[in-house]
Parts: sequence; C-alpha cells; structure tokens
Amino acid sequence: MGVVPLKEIVDRAMAERYGVAAINIVNDLTLESVLAAAVERRSPVIVQTSVKTVRSIRADVLIAMWKAMTAGIEVPVSLHLDHCPDRAVITECLAKGWNSVLFDASLLPVEENLRQTIEVVAEARAHGAHVEGEIEAIKGVEDDVGSDEDSRRQSLETSVRFVETSGVDVFAPSIGNAHGVYSATPHLDGQRVSDIVAATGVPIALHGGTGLTDEQFTDLISRGCAKVNVSTALKVTYMTSNLAFLRQAEENDKWDPPSLFKHVAADVTAMAAGYIDRFGSAGRAW
Ligand code: 13P
Repeated sequence: MGVVPLKEIVDRAMAERYGVAAINIVNDLTLESVLAAAVERRSPVIVQTSVKTVRSIRADVLIAMWKAMTAGIEVPVSLHLDHCPDRAVITECLAKGWNSVLFDASLLPVEENLRQTIEVVAEARAHGAHVEGEIEAIKGVEDDVGSDEDSRRQSLETSVRFVETSGVDVFAPSIGNAHGVYSATPHLDGQRVSDIVAATGVPIALHGGTGLTDEQFTDLISRGCAKVNVSTALKVTYMTSNLAFLRQAEENDKWDPPSLFKHVAADVTAMAAGYIDRFGSAGRAW
C-alpha cells in the first residue's frame, strides 16, 4: 500500500475499533526495524519523530531515509511529527513531506492555542497533511518537551469546541496518562475518551503507551483511541539490546558492527510487533 495520509490510517482504525501503534524512532536502524514489524504483522503503522530526533538527524536526512525505506512497502505507513511547540519545525517538516504533525501548544492559553492550531491546520492542508491537537500537556518530559507537573484538565465543552473549531484530525486529551516509565499503573479516565468521541467523532491519540496494561489498551481502543503512542519502550529496548550485545562482544573480544545492528534490529522489531499484536492491528493492512 505504501505511504498514506494519517487520517486514512486512524479513521479506519477508529471505525473498526483497533489501535495503530505510533512508535517514535530515533535513527535509521529503529526506523527500519519498526517498518519491518509492520510488514511482518501485515499491519498499518505510524512512525513518529520527536523534535529532538529531527534536530539530531536533520529533517532532510530523515525524509530521505523514510522515502528510501518505504519505497515499495506493502503495508500502509505514515510519518508523524510528535509534540512540536515550534512552528518553524512544523513548517519545515510539512514542507519536506511529513504526513502529519502534533502541534503542541498545550502550554498556551486555550484561545491562543486554538488560534494557532487553526493556522497549522490550514498550513497542513496545503500539503495534504493532517494535524493532531492538544490543549492539556501530557505529564512527563519526552525528548526535552513537556513537564512533570500535572496539567489542569479542560471541560468537555472546551475540548469539543477546540476540536470542532480547529478542525484537527486527531485529538490528544490528558486522561491520567504520562510519558516515560510509570511508577505504578495509572488510573485512566476512559469515560473522558468516550465523551469526546461521542461529541466529536474524532479519533483519539493515547499518549504514554509504555507501561499500560493489556486491559487498559483494550478498553481505551474500544472507546476510540485509534492512535497509540509508544516511545520509551523503544528507547529502553534499543539501549538494553545494545548493552547486552556489547557486554558479550567485550567478553568474547569480538567486534563486528553488522552483528550488533542485526541483534538490535531483531529486538526492536520484536518489541514493535508485540505492540501491534496487543493493539489488534495485525492483519489489518489494506
Ligand atoms: P511513552 O514514552 O510513555 O511510550 O509515551 C510515548 C508518547 O506518548 C509519545 O508522544
């Protein structure tokens, strides 16, 4: 199927009530490994880049990698810019070919957030791209963006007005979820997801996927969380897999980089395939 607009992926997932893994990659190896998992499981997948990753690798290099690695791919895939408060980075990524962006103006007053989100939606549309919006910061710092403070939740009325007036394609409410590693299983407000979906029909992005239970995923996906974000799990898998291999390499005094890459890629692919299976999107490629 190949590269498709974000809306095509999330609208189908929402209608059929499965979740699509939206996985933050950090380099070429993790990008290739996540795509390999989607192909292996015959699943749609959303690949995400944080602003930190865009800055560390550069947008032109990332998009060249994306185009090369998705050429001829047989499952639906989409490239998304995660939490971005910086309009210049949004403009650059949209111009270069990202399929969607999360404009994160959650630290601004809702009215100013709405005013700017309307502009970002118009900018995205000019590129055939889509927009995720949020009006409450998701707790936890993710690649230097965010805060460890709980943010104030807005009323249902404010959320619905934001979604309807801004024209965002996906909405990310705060429901007790957080980025990073949970110290205990969080209490999530699934009713809030159901209420927003009932009022707007817009697919919901569930942030902070790492560490949630299968029951939480199943419940929230059935309520309309069509996009499920996972970042920390990839970072942990990537780093610990490298560490395990390098410890062994040191012990054996055997230093072969391609063997390291193969080992880490297999672990990252297995991690991504595990989430795809848990979210119910395996076999859903069209
Ligand atoms: P985790 O880092 O908790 O997996 O959350 C990912 C996320 O929500 C990215 O926006």
